[in-house]
Amino acid sequence: MHHLIVRKHPPGNSRVGAHILYNRNMDSKQTRLDQIKSDILDNNICPDLAETATNLVMGDGNTDADIVFIGEAPGKNEDEQGLPFVGAAGRFLNEMLASIDLDRQDIFITNIVKYRPPNNRDPLPDEKKAFWPYLLRQLEVIEPKIIVTLGRHSMEYFLPDAKISLVHGQPKRIPVKLHDGTTTNWVILPLYHPAAALYNGGMRETLLDDFQRVPEILSKIA
Ligand code: URA
Repeated sequence: MHHLIVRKHPPGNSRVGAHILYNRNMDSKQTRLDQIKSDILDNNICPDLAETATNLVMGDGNTDADIVFIGEAPGKNEDEQGLPFVGAAGRFLNEMLASIDLDRQDIFITNIVKYRPPNNRDPLPDEKKAFWPYLLRQLEVIEPKIIVTLGRHSMEYFLPDAKISLVHGQPKRIPVKLHDGTTTNWVILPLYHPAAALYNGGMRETLLDDFQRVPEILSKIA
């Protein structure tokens, strides 16, 4: 276990009852996440993308994580495997996670748009808008301490007026209107997208530097 990451493990209490309660909570998180997937399918979200994609890529990782990463949309590898960030950008992300002593089982990762756009084109505004309520519901279930947006497509929904070149690496606590109409405060950390930074020396260095600050930022959040 990494010393800076507070994981929501069961309390140090070996009473059988406590563990049964904990397991029920875990089950209900997965059940609620499965329900979000069913709702996307039942509500026929982005039928054109659904038609050309192989898989609906919901997300992966620890449903009890303190950090949720949000990318743009699945690419070819992600569409084939049904998992987010399994190609080149994902390998770079894994390296950056390792550099702060984390791995994919410590975090949860998803995308704003959950079907691959044809030929990896940018997701359209309507596509992002259509998936936004389902992303909110995922975040409401996982309840991370910090939401890391990767690239401008996921950033712009949380920080609509921000320019990534100006705000990257700076955490912001913002009010977010939840899908049930209530408002909550979430900490958003905008970072460059690993795919954009992968082959751009300057951006790569910036992203690596910003990443190093994640444990400290996390430790300051109550
Ligand atoms: N890029 C993304 O934004 N998401 C993925 O899942 C893979 C690459």
